[in-house]
Amino acid sequence: MSDDASAGAKAESPFDLLGGGAGVRALVDRFYDLMDLDPGYAGIRRLHPATLDGSRDKLFWFLCGWLGGPDLYQQRFGHPRLRARHLPYSIGVAERDQWMACMQQALAETGADPALAQRLRTAFFNTADWMRNQGG
Ligand code: HEM
Repeated sequence: MSDDASAGAKAESPFDLLGGGAGVRALVDRFYDLMDLDPGYAGIRRLHPATLDGSRDKLFWFLCGWLGGPDLYQQRFGHPRLRARHLPYSIGVAERDQWMACMQQALAETGADPALAQRLRTAFFNTADWMRNQGG
């Protein structure tokens, strides 16, 4: 590759590739709609509050930064301390796998590029697995 071809070319972040804030919001909304509607995700739905409005906002703010966009969560709450914040909820393999399935379905249904979805799958899995606080 010539220097000219790469000069100034900035790799797009997953945040950009998903369509910026509007794309991340659509992903989060689909994720929580599915969690609310699909009985397959009832196991993790029941860990959440009756209304999901606050959960939607927090995941949206967090993912914007986590995907390489603006750090909206950190600006509001400081360091995410994600594992500590999940300790009140019993999370084992079943909960991790439901969360992952729900997110993968949301990525597919909001039209994320399959190569990007695959890349994010690995990153989401590592984070979700780190959230486990129960053996089973
Ligand atoms: C492994 C399975 C997971 C389960 C069962 C789970 C469940 C939950 C629950 C019940 C809440 C509280 C919701 C609320 O207060 O409205 C929560 C909060 C949150 N979760 Fe998860 N979660 C999981 C994985 C993840 C992953 C992988 C991420 C990020 C990639 C994530 C990001 C967040 C964030 C940012 C919050 C808000 C924290 C706060 O400010 O209180 N979660 N999660």
